[in-house]
Amino acid sequence: MALNNAMTADFLRSAYGGESMAHMRYLIWGDHAEKAGYPNIARLFRGIAYAEWAHAKNHFNVLKNQVGDNTVAAGAVFGNTDIIENLQGAINGELHEVDQMYPVYLETARFQNEKDAERSFHFALEAEKIHANMFKGAQEAAKSGKDIPNQKIYVCPICGYTYMGDNVSDCPVCGAKKEIFKEF
Ligand SMILES: [Fe+2]
Ligand SMILES: [Fe+2]
Repeated sequence: MALNNAMTADFLRSAYGGESMAHMRYLIWGDHAEKAGYPNIARLFRGIAYAEWAHAKNHFNVLKNQVGDNTVAAGAVFGNTDIIENLQGAINGELHEVDQMYPVYLETARFQNEKDAERSFHFALEAEKIHANMFKGAQEAAKSGKDIPNQKIYVCPICGYTYMGDNVSDCPVCGAKKEIFKEF
């Protein structure tokens, strides 16, 4: 389905930019966490980086008929210092998406009857809520000088849903089978 509305298209491009940068930033912060002696927080960063890739991919694909160049402006968190500060940057970025960006983008897509964009924004919003809480938990651990527990991290490649633990089930957001989840 082709996009019919410029405002939704703009929001998709901005979200694509934001997710692309979050993906990269989390890979960098993952390496930082690994070097700082937090291998499980490093895995969390890498797993969530993959989820942000899934969001960027979804937004990009909804824009498939918007052929050509665009300058993309998107919010981005900067800084690569200690692990607690990096996690605060991650929390801030996720909360911006949860409280500001995606609810507005989602309502716009709904208002403009852009179903594919609505689904793409919905998937991202649901995953970012989980990410914010995971990063908060990781920061709590890091503040007491501890890594998070050594649990498996699963990410749905369709919607970016992220789960940490041993009792993973099929995706509660998009319905994908757990067998296709990527494990970190
Ligand atoms: Fe996220
Ligand atoms: Fe999913």
